[in-house]
Amino acid sequence: MTQDLFEKFNPILNSYNSIPSGENNPFTVSMEKVLSPTTAIINGRETILAGTNNYMGMTFNEECIKAATDALMTLGTGTTGSRVLNGTYNGHKNLEETLKKFYDTEYAVVFSTGYQANLGVISTLAGPKDYIVIDADSHASIYDGCALGNASVVRFKHNDPENLEKRLNRIRRDDPEAGILVVLEGVYSMLGDQAPLKELTTISKKYDAYVLVDEAHSIGVFGKTGRGVAQEQDVEDQVDFIVGTFSKSVGTIGGYCVSNHPKFEVLRLVCRPYMFTASLPPSVVASATKALELISNSNLRSKLLQNSARLNNGLDDAGFDMGTTGESPIAAIIVGDQKTAIAFWGEMIREGVYVNLALPPATPNGLNLMRCSLSAAHSFEQIDFMLEKFIKVGRKLGLLQSVTERNLETA
Ligand SMILES: Cc1ncc(COP(=O)(O)O)c(C=O)c1O
Repeated sequence: MTQDLFEKFNPILNSYNSIPSGENNPFTVSMEKVLSPTTAIINGRETILAGTNNYMGMTFNEECIKAATDALMTLGTGTTGSRVLNGTYNGHKNLEETLKKFYDTEYAVVFSTGYQANLGVISTLAGPKDYIVIDADSHASIYDGCALGNASVVRFKHNDPENLEKRLNRIRRDDPEAGILVVLEGVYSMLGDQAPLKELTTISKKYDAYVLVDEAHSIGVFGKTGRGVAQEQDVEDQVDFIVGTFSKSVGTIGGYCVSNHPKFEVLRLVCRPYMFTASLPPSVVASATKALELISNSNLRSKLLQNSARLNNGLDDAGFDMGTTGESPIAAIIVGDQKTAIAFWGEMIREGVYVNLALPPATPNGLNLMRCSLSAAHSFEQIDFMLEKFIKVGRKLGLLQSVTERNLETA
């Protein structure tokens, strides 16, 4: 009898099959029509989108759409090749030039997704004799970059400078000559907390480590010209590599890495997730280039942060157990168990609000979350509508704590 290759998935299948089918199933829902960066038709109803990561609302920007349409009409639907074969068009080079200008760096390399940027850069930079030191709450693409390479991988406690120092100290004691790459994120995607980059980069440099910061959720959102948390916290000169994505604030798809390291360009010859995959289509490249130009001078950042404060404070005041502190446009409600989280999601979609149901293993500490990622394109009326619906459903599910209960808990 041959082994059923799918048998190992039985527990997850059983849990999946317990979710109600039909319009309340968060894993089968689809957008019937997208009306704007903040609204879509779902289950036949107009629905507010509260979890798109479309921080700047760029997906419907007229200039981006025009740039994409022009490229589509003149250059076709795809490149049908890798960057190292027939897949480099002038547009890819322009996009890399735009990234260099945006970050004020010497070098920039574009990948087909942000996932592949982390996969490629991390697995290629750190070899068998090197160490990668990562935050325990790192994104899956960072973990997968570690798994694809041959370096030794060491984790430190989330956002804990002291614990990072302990790890680096031990590595240096055991192997004074080792190459070390410390990988951090500007904003952590599930709970929206920022990394204390000043402390973390200072410690990394003390131990002669290279530092890579993934600004996936912070490009466009933080920093004077939207470069991210490294710019916001004024530590760009301590960061050797910045990785990011075009799939959130930039409103399309693609990834990148920028650096001032003089040998950086060699990645194009040795990085497999860059070399062995097709390059981004011309329309995507054109809209990403336009969006980067727009977000560097944008006044949308302050609107976005106002939206975030309005939602985070409103949810907190209502008595929800919040996983976030309003440090970013991400708001996350902690829901005790998976069954209640799934029910919460179903009630919210029926009320006309699409939220992210975030479950382990995508979340830290096994949390079940109702996660929102706001856009500068949300109006205050939309935020207030979301709040009204969250409170209605939260009350129905018994998830609102009274002030007295809270005070007792913290006493
Ligand atoms: C921190 C982080 N890095 C990388 C990625 C991957 O980006 P992409 O969607 O472009 O593959 C994500 C996406 O969610 C992310 O949250």
